[in-house]
Amino acid sequence: MEILRLENVKYSYKSKYNIVHAVKNASAVFEEGKLYAIIGRSGSGKTTLLSVMAGLDLPTDGNVYYDNKSLVEMDRDKHRRENISVIYQSFHLFPLLTALENVMYPMELAGIDNKYAKERAIQLIDEMGIAPERHKNFPLMLSGGEQQRIAIARALASNSKLILADEPTGNLDTENGNKVIDILTKLAHEKKYCVIIITHDLSISEKADCVYRMTDGVLSQEIKSEKIIS
Ligand SMILES: Nc1ncnc2c1ncn2[C@@H]1O[C@H](COP(=O)(O)OP(=O)(O)O)[C@@H](O)[C@H]1O
Ligand SMILES: [Mg+2]
Repeated sequence: MEILRLENVKYSYKSKYNIVHAVKNASAVFEEGKLYAIIGRSGSGKTTLLSVMAGLDLPTDGNVYYDNKSLVEMDRDKHRRENISVIYQSFHLFPLLTALENVMYPMELAGIDNKYAKERAIQLIDEMGIAPERHKNFPLMLSGGEQQRIAIARALASNSKLILADEPTGNLDTENGNKVIDILTKLAHEKKYCVIIITHDLSISEKADCVYRMTDGVLSQEIKSEKIIS
């Protein structure tokens, strides 16, 4: 089922002195239950496209539809809180909150009862394979892999069905990167999230159901070579 649609999306950064056409043309449909990879060189417009998909910025031209509703017509603050989960390369955890408090935070913002929020946060952290004795640790006391998995748990605390990740394994070693990829793949294939990952990581694009490439601001679909079955 379609969840996000881009129609002739363009995005330009304008300043007094110049204009940068970061996204020149992007059209695509993203569905629930699928894992998408967006690849492309540095500076090709991937992060800009992600902020437009997340509703952080409106396109300069063209349209973004979430659940068939144009973002222009939506309360975008509410939309971002309720429908979108973003995961970053550098985790973006709150340094002065414990692991558990970080995961509880979006639920507290949403006005969810504290006892329920705590139970759900504990469950989410457990599902990420992080031991209960780590709950009280602050982010800097956790490994990079644990921090990213806490960030994913926090992203799942809202009931959003769309996960956008910008280089989520970029700061991780292979082993921790693989754990994160496995989690994101399962979220798409078993829990029916729509997961869109910007990445340089070949093991993600191999696992993806669909791969897009950004080239100089233009988004195009990569034809995946058929896997040879012997
Ligand atoms: N805030 C900004 N102001 C002006 N130009 C920007 C800004 N952010 C990114 N750009 C430019 O837009 C282009 C695309 O950047 P970006 O979306 O970050 O690409 P990528 O994520 O693929 O590396 C680059 O030329 C970059 O310099
Ligand atoms: Mg980027």
